[in-house]
Amino acid sequence: MAKARIGLVGLAVMGANLALNIAEKGFPVAVHNRTTQRIDDLMAAAGDLAANLVPAQTPEALVAALAKPRAIILMVKAGAAVDAVIGQLAPLLDPGDILIDAGNANFHDTRRREKALADQGLSFIGMGVSGGEEGARHGPSIMVGGKPESYAVIRDIVEAIAARYKGDPCAAHLGPDGAGHFVKTVHNGIEYADMQMIAEVYGLLRDGEHRNPADIGKLFAEWNGGPLHSYLVEISAKVLAAKDAATGNPMVEMILDKAGQKGTGRWSVIEALGLGQSASTIEAAVGARSWSALKPARLAGAEILAAAEPSGREAHAVLDGDLERALLAAKIVAYAQGFALLDAASQEYGWDLDLARIAEIWREGCIIRSAMLDDMARAARDGLPHGQLIFAPEFAQKLSAASNALRRTVAAAALKGLPVPAFSAALAYFDTMRRGRGTTDLIQAQRDFFGAHGFERIDGGAGHHGPWGGKRTG
Ligand code: 6PG
Repeated sequence: MAKARIGLVGLAVMGANLALNIAEKGFPVAVHNRTTQRIDDLMAAAGDLAANLVPAQTPEALVAALAKPRAIILMVKAGAAVDAVIGQLAPLLDPGDILIDAGNANFHDTRRREKALADQGLSFIGMGVSGGEEGARHGPSIMVGGKPESYAVIRDIVEAIAARYKGDPCAAHLGPDGAGHFVKTVHNGIEYADMQMIAEVYGLLRDGEHRNPADIGKLFAEWNGGPLHSYLVEISAKVLAAKDAATGNPMVEMILDKAGQKGTGRWSVIEALGLGQSASTIEAAVGARSWSALKPARLAGAEILAAAEPSGREAHAVLDGDLERALLAAKIVAYAQGFALLDAASQEYGWDLDLARIAEIWREGCIIRSAMLDDMARAARDGLPHGQLIFAPEFAQKLSAASNALRRTVAAAALKGLPVPAFSAALAYFDTMRRGRGTTDLIQAQRDFFGAHGFERIDGGAGHHGPWGGKRTG
């Protein structure tokens, strides 16, 4: 058989589906997995596609099966496993060969690996892949970072396997070294915020309005036909409609309210803070998952801490129409904070990220795909005033129109004693960004009082001190 165009190591769900996708698009792909049973399983399940799969029982066999320059996708668990596989493969490769990490890597690791492999004459691509199992099989969104000349070697394959938006592949080379994995991390950060906001709506309707899951699911299904049209709203509707076969209860009610997280949401927040930003809606979502893990403490808290008064539902009813607009407004803020984070990182690392292209490749295939992304791409192409998506005319208008619904929703939630951390963060950001004069004049005065840190005066000049002496206390 002719040599395979590309190799793939790691045949768990994502890797196996990606291999089938590549094979289906007509590219011979050599596949390897440490536990070789998975290779046999994939070959057995591949049907006609097996003709384009080359099973390789060892790393040596994988390398021998590949045309040069060799390109090998790694789809293994992020972290130490990636270093282990690289350690195995690198000595078998020749200068110019390319390793492609398609997992959810921390972009700092990607930068480190890229440098280390460059010293050995090898290329490294950090490639974010979004879309879950279904996406991997039939078309994910693909965010590539690395050297353009390395990407050129695999571009035809990447574009062939990616999702398409009106014919345009949802795949792009976005910048050097860790750029692709950073963009994927922020994608996941936005995903966390989006999921949290949807869950907050669910909580307001369940606990504030005593609506059942099926009913809430119907509402989401309706919203999915309007401006909130998105994959996450669509699947939330389906999830809420589902029944548990064992009990007949709504499935969602049989699921323990403790959310897992593998790291990408948290990394978004850490990177935002490190860059002097605050992706507060993402932080709220990460924090909400962390708090959810404190299940025994929350059960105890229900007995210890005071409930909200008044808690009457009539007094502060949350209206469906308000909720729809509130979700739209909060979602715009979450995406805007994500784009601001991408922009800040782009400047810090010299990546020259094209925010519009990023929005474009998120229009299909990925988990946060939504009707808004096409408009966001257009807004980013036109240039974001002050780097802010929320100032782009279309979004400023949408956000302003929906802001009072968000305000009423957050107020009603507070009065009912229902936590809406992501909605609250979105509203606080909106209200901060529309006030020319904030309250950090007092913070500056306090800093100067206890630490003689100095301040700028509104009538000019920096390094001023107040009449309090600027002395340290205590
Ligand atoms: C995607 C998803 C995918 C995965 C994340 C979520 O874009 O396809 O984001 O990458 O579901 O790992 O991770 P958590 O386990 O942290 O929610």
